[in-house]
Amino acid sequence: MKIAEFTLERIQSLYENVVEFNLSDSGVHPYRLSELLNDEQKETLLDIELGYGWTNGKTQLRETIANLYQGYNADNVMVTNGSAEANFLMVMSILNPGDELIVVVPNYLQIAGWAKAIGVNVIEVPLLENNHWLPDLDKLESLVTDKTKMLTICHPNNPTGSTLPVAQIQKLVDFASKHKLYLHADEVYKGAEFDGVELPSFADLYDKAIVTCGLSKAMAMPGLRLGWLVGPTEEIYSTWQSKDYTSITTGAVSEYVANIVLQPEFRQKVLQRSKDFLINNLNTLQKWVDDNSDWVSFIPPKAGGMAFIQYKLKVNSTTLVHEFKDELGVFLLPGDVYGMDGYFRVGIGAPADHLTIGLERIANYVRSKYL
Ligand SMILES: Cc1ncc(COP(=O)(O)O)c(C=O)c1O
Repeated sequence: MKIAEFTLERIQSLYENVVEFNLSDSGVHPYRLSELLNDEQKETLLDIELGYGWTNGKTQLRETIANLYQGYNADNVMVTNGSAEANFLMVMSILNPGDELIVVVPNYLQIAGWAKAIGVNVIEVPLLENNHWLPDLDKLESLVTDKTKMLTICHPNNPTGSTLPVAQIQKLVDFASKHKLYLHADEVYKGAEFDGVELPSFADLYDKAIVTCGLSKAMAMPGLRLGWLVGPTEEIYSTWQSKDYTSITTGAVSEYVANIVLQPEFRQKVLQRSKDFLINNLNTLQKWVDDNSDWVSFIPPKAGGMAFIQYKLKVNSTTLVHEFKDELGVFLLPGDVYGMDGYFRVGIGAPADHLTIGLERIANYVRSKYL
């Protein structure tokens, strides 16, 4: 089996830790462990026995996660190393060579990457910029064949930050239900909706939904590497079969912290911090786009830690991003990694001063070199 380079991750990994201003991330500037725990919890943390634990996740944590959804229990939950492992297990345990997978694009690309590698046929449905980065759901019917097994969506979306109106969410569920398809939703940005109204989870709306999620994005704790799957008991059990072959288990320290931060009240506090952070930065970005409207434009995101900006310069997005990095010490993600040249992704979860200075450097540079 051969798998294509995951350029989105590779380019970030190469540069995000060495540039002066990293504006390439899609999450919110991370917490420190010391900000999350009280004195008693810190003591307990230091006393944690560093054993293996459960390969599907500690029962108490699986119950805490199940309680975030309606009508689920610990058997409906698999705890994973980041939502990346959750996505991987989902593909490996549910899809087979020859299956067809409908993928709403652009998105994080990990699911399609693995699916193609194992011989799944990937059928793309575009989010349309001229429709506020929403899909034309009427097109879906024509894509279904007797091989179609699943539809997957990243919701809220990476990289556009778009969210489906509730009527469209229901329409997707009805479509999946009519054709007896699995509906997979990557919901790592859920909870960071800027209007303050948390979207319903697909897991709460459909009995063949499989949701992947985690603490990395809306919850601002990527270093814990804590993610999960929620779905029907049998399918979750089959992801466990794969998990035993991959990372065995998640870290005991991460599981302990996860069980604290996922208690409903604590979770809301964390999400409020994320929203405050992101809304403030989105205002900065909006002003910058307004000031530079002769060469950039965007549909403002509705959730999540990023904005997808279209630019009108006669230069390839990867070339441009490398120029910004090398000349200005500012790193963005090129649209090329999504197969969408002419765009770049700006992380709005970066510290406010990094965003302000980084954007200012970019505007000055572009004005002197390209305009
Ligand atoms: C949509 C989406 N899903 C999953 C991931 C993987 O993140 P993690 O494994 O840290 O949860 C990312 C990372 O950028 C992402 O953007």
